Amino acid sequence: TIFDLQGMRLGRLRLAAVTTTKYFLPKLLKPFCQLYPGVKLSLEFTNHEALLARMHENLDDLYVMSCPPNREDIEVRPFLANPLVAIAPATHRFANERNLSLKAFAEEPLIMREEGSGTRMVVEQFFKQHEIDLQINIELGSNEAIQQAVIDGLGVSIISMHTLNCAEVRKHLAILDIDHFPIHRQWQIIFPKKKQLPITASTFLEYLLKESQKFSTNKENPMQVVE
Ligand code: PGA
Repeated sequence: TIFDLQGMRLGRLRLAAVTTTKYFLPKLLKPFCQLYPGVKLSLEFTNHEALLARMHENLDDLYVMSCPPNREDIEVRPFLANPLVAIAPATHRFANERNLSLKAFAEEPLIMREEGSGTRMVVEQFFKQHEIDLQINIELGSNEAIQQAVIDGLGVSIISMHTLNCAEVRKHLAILDIDHFPIHRQWQIIFPKKKQLPITASTFLEYLLKESQKFSTNKENPMQVVE
């Protein structure tokens, strides 16, 4: 309708996403911004728990995370794989081993994200499921800080594959071959069911579901485009 057209010319789109998505969401936004240059877009990055608090206060139109709460009143749309991998310095003795046990990995000093992080939550559930005691030696509030700490030899970690798309960082890190890895997750776009989405948000939702089909996650290049 004429109102929809106007909405896409002058509207606002407020997105909020977990920290790990900053490695690929901006790339996915580009064609949308080119199609709809009039839409004023904002994208907030924060951790899982803070994102749920933002949703509770109705601060944004759409939210991106990989562990949505299991609630009836939330609409959840999966759009992309999010494998979590175990990493160590490239020079680590585990780097060239095959089929390492989770138990052996768990004996290394472990660096993990803060409480409230979705990545942390998934790792806690994963260890519980495999009945292995999770000992966290260092807690860091950012994926980038974790990568640097692992490169510096402070320990090993478990992190989203998407954070490893920088060649310089990858050079110094090894993705370990450990039983039950990678941990398979999906990126989900979520919003409260009762929310009346503005035309900018419903258009973006359709766009994202379609556009993300072009991406695949593969070990060497997590954001390789398959066209
Ligand atoms: P996080 O969330 O950035 O809070 O760790 C990641 C996720 O939802 O997978």
